[in-house]
Amino acid sequence: MTYVRETIVTTKNIDNSIKSSPLGIYIDNKVLKIKPFKPSTSLDNIIRNNSGVINYIDDVRLFASAITKKNIVIGYENAKKIDCSRIKNCISHTEFVVKKVENDQKRPTIICEPVHEEIHKMYYGFNRAKSAVIELCILASRLGIIDDKKIDDEIKYLKISIDKTAGENEIEAWEWLMDYINKYRDKNK
Ligand SMILES: Cc1cc2nc3c(=O)[nH]c(=O)nc-3n(C[C@H](O)[C@H](O)[C@H](O)COP(=O)(O)O)c2cc1C
Repeated sequence: MTYVRETIVTTKNIDNSIKSSPLGIYIDNKVLKIKPFKPSTSLDNIIRNNSGVINYIDDVRLFASAITKKNIVIGYENAKKIDCSRIKNCISHTEFVVKKVENDQKRPTIICEPVHEEIHKMYYGFNRAKSAVIELCILASRLGIIDDKKIDDEIKYLKISIDKTAGENEIEAWEWLMDYINKYRDKNK
């Protein structure tokens, strides 16, 4: 069984700016693995720099903005042990170097060796609306691949958690994603 943490990975671009991308961290017998589909700027950055940062966050707007290509301002702080940055308001982060790359035409596996970890703020536990936003991100990234009826049925179910448990950030992220889905559908009628 492989457990997956949904995180934001930060990497350094060629021009020294920071790239933030939602990427799953696969935990395989305590080993951290990243599996980016090609092409991926994060993959290129990780390979070129031999390092990156895994950010554990509770603001789901960062996931939603990446999927909807919405420009939001993300604050960064320098990483401690590698030449990169972490997300300023992350709960905690792991800095890693690349231990090994298992190459693949479509989806290589990067085996990460943690070199530094830090906790920055309180983690206040699970929230159903945050999980619903993450699920909606996945649906929004599969428009035209998954059947529309299945997407609508899932949205109806996920909306229950939004209505019952969301805060402002979750509502904002949900709205960005719904707007993105509706615009996609209008264009592809
Ligand atoms: C919750 C979540 C998890 C994701 N996990 C992965 C992943 O494990 N691998 C991947 O290639 N893309 C994943 N994605 C999609 C990437 O964030 C997206 O394809 C991104 O553009 C990666 O390309 P980049 O490195 O060029 O930014 C995920 C998206 C979300 C919302």
